[in-house]
Amino acid sequence: MGALVVLVPVFVCLSVLSQVGADTPANCTYEDVKGTWVFQIGQEGYTNTLNCTSFNNPQVDYKVELLFPDLAIDQFGNKGFWTLIYNQGFELVIGGRKYFAFSKYKQSGSTVVSMCDQILPGWSHDVLGHNWACFLGAKNERQKVKVHTDLPRLTGYKYQSDIELIKTINQGQNSWKAVQYPQFENMDFEDMIRMAGGRKSRIHNKPSPAPITQEQHQQLKSLPAEFDWRNVDGSNFVSPIRNQASCGSCYAFSSLAMNEARVRILTNNTRQPVFSTQDIVECSEYSQGCEGGFPYLIGGKYAEDFGLVEESCNPYKGRDDACSTVPNCPREYSTRYEYVGGFYGACNEALMRINLVKYGPMAVAFEVYNDFMHYKSGVYHHTGAVNKFNPFEITNHAVLLVGYGTDTSDMNNPKDYWIVKNGWGTGWGEDDYFRILRGVDECSIESIAVQSFPVM
Ligand SMILES: *[C@@H]1O[C@H](CO)[C@@H](O)[C@H](O)[C@H]1NC(C)=O
Ligand SMILES: *[C@@H]1O[C@H](CO)[C@@H](O)[C@H](O)[C@H]1NC(C)=O
Ligand SMILES: *[C@@H]1O[C@H](CO)[C@@H](O)[C@H](O)[C@H]1NC(C)=O
Repeated sequence: MGALVVLVPVFVCLSVLSQVGADTPANCTYEDVKGTWVFQIGQEGYTNTLNCTSFNNPQVDYKVELLFPDLAIDQFGNKGFWTLIYNQGFELVIGGRKYFAFSKYKQSGSTVVSMCDQILPGWSHDVLGHNWACFLGAKNERQKVKVHTDLPRLTGYKYQSDIELIKTINQGQNSWKAVQYPQFENMDFEDMIRMAGGRKSRIHNKPSPAPITQEQHQQLKSLPAEFDWRNVDGSNFVSPIRNQASCGSCYAFSSLAMNEARVRILTNNTRQPVFSTQDIVECSEYSQGCEGGFPYLIGGKYAEDFGLVEESCNPYKGRDDACSTVPNCPREYSTRYEYVGGFYGACNEALMRINLVKYGPMAVAFEVYNDFMHYKSGVYHHTGAVNKFNPFEITNHAVLLVGYGTDTSDMNNPKDYWIVKNGWGTGWGEDDYFRILRGVDECSIESIAVQSFPVM
């Protein structure tokens, strides 16, 4: 555990327009959040319709210490679990209750002030989903606020392919092939960034995967050399390809695709739901609509606390709107959501393969560089080729991991890869899928996988 490097801000798929709220702009690291907290908890006894937005009526104080790496101890000596959620907030499970809150921040213009020793009003309920209450909280000791400035938006700027870039990629390596995509030509540049995960999603300090343990090495030996949930003894367990369009909803698509695949696996394909991503975009308070969100909070926590509805209950529009999900649509739940490895920062390639084969596809996130937009086929790795025309922002994009293998077309240089489902439609990549180098944390893809387990 000692060598574990945990504490890095990773955001997923948010689209941050500096003037508008996005994935929350807070930037709170593990170091900022760990320590002793006092929660001020409101009246219990509500259901999940409880609105905590303007909560200001605390009833009791509750003191809890958040310790390395995932241990929590309360004022009575009860032990529990906690995890950072990217750089956005944290979740605590202790004494049969869960507590989740976003870290506190203020934004004026492009200036963001993170107050990581405080939280916005959060949600608490027991582990059975009953007795909801709102809570506030602050650390015992005041910390300095953190200030950063969002990059300005490039409004009115249109994307244009850089033909030289494509040439440079294709001449410089033969692992993957780049092409020009007509559908991206003249696309609004901000829409494109949003599609790729969003401006805010950049990782400033890359989280490192946890070291692979002896036990994990042992478990790896019993895994097949290649695996693909689209073809397990002739059966496909992955739901159909979709297109998120220019809404920053990759977190919802990857999260729900995980739940869809896992329902198929649990029922041997006799149930094949397609869940409503628009319900997430419009109705979830655990995410920020087309401005972003995180698989841990959607495929995991939202699916447990509120459940998922079928696509027909709220068909995809690809834009923000008031919640219009058909009332009383049946809801399907998931549980035991987690960062693979147990908590934020504990993930690695071995755990991803072990859990993938055992339980099914999972939501992952990776850094998108300008060369990735041109991916057509092969095993992607970031080439470093420079794009002269487009001031592309590095983003972090949520997608679905479905398999792995090894490309031996060059016998002298075999390449291990992951098989990943994107959300950009069939006209992109290997029919909306791509392969990416495996085992080297390429573009940080091995650092923050998320999984949850459908309740049948
Ligand atoms: C919660 O209340 C706030 C105002 O305090 C309102 O803006 C928001 O729409 C409410 N959320 C829901 C889900 O009703
Ligand atoms: C977030 O905080 C980390 C560590 O405190 C820092 O290195 C990083 O640059 C910050 N990110 C932004 C966008 O300010
Ligand atoms: C699962 O479905 C496949 C394909 O229909 C079938 O061949 C197989 O026997 C089923 N497995 C079980 C355990 O029912």
